[in-house]
Amino acid sequence: MIVLKLGGSVITDKDRPETLDGEALERAAAAVADAVVEGTENLVIVHGGGSFGHHNASKRGVSTTAGTHDAAAALEIHGAMKTLNQFVLTRLLERDVHAIPVHPFSAGHRDEEGRLELPTGQVETLLEEGFVPVLHGDMIAHAGAGATVVSGDELVAELARDLEADRIGLCSTVPGVLDDDDAVIERISAYEDVEAVLGASDATDVTGGMAAKVRALLDLEAEASIFGLEELDSFLGGERSGTTIE
Ligand code: IPE
Repeated sequence: MIVLKLGGSVITDKDRPETLDGEALERAAAAVADAVVEGTENLVIVHGGGSFGHHNASKRGVSTTAGTHDAAAALEIHGAMKTLNQFVLTRLLERDVHAIPVHPFSAGHRDEEGRLELPTGQVETLLEEGFVPVLHGDMIAHAGAGATVVSGDELVAELARDLEADRIGLCSTVPGVLDDDDAVIERISAYEDVEAVLGASDATDVTGGMAAKVRALLDLEAEASIFGLEELDSFLGGERSGTTIE
């Protein structure tokens, strides 16, 4: 089973509030459709927030740790993510991918320490029944903090662990993790290898950028790859793409 994250910055214009990158989403949907129609592998998709999630969340002062008790604020962020999710589902359905939404706000929670609990029975059952579950970065109930943001990356980690994914793919706006000369680092096996080159993400990002991604992926059993949209086809075809983290 593959867990694939479509980065929010890939499928949206991250610098303009609530703006889709329709062309990129089409391209991603086409790559997913090719892989699913060939039918070799089960696929769970998670997409990020891009300009639908991050602008709304930072406007309301909400992050993965700073919560809100304001239901209207939580709904505004959740609603924007559902709008984006609907775009993703529609593009997939148009290409005969049997995509079904799973909204994390209605499924999981965080405990007092901020640890994410996400039941995966529905995702597993959807997979067994031949569907492609599509989750997304969202709001999530957080003990002691109201509701906070849950990032797509956290969902990927949780799903990969619980469902024992074979491979994880993060489709990003960059072709992989880049070194100081902007060359793709082919393999990362310890965070210390890349600590010096991982700066913060420049666009508004309430969930931590590349450094957080690499750290989370290093903790997982499954082999993970970070690659650009151009390589989504080859990743789904089983090839090594971008940066491999293991
Ligand atoms: C963010 O999800 C979700 C919200 C801000 C509500 P991600 O953190 O996974 O989004 P991207 O991929 O960085 O845009």
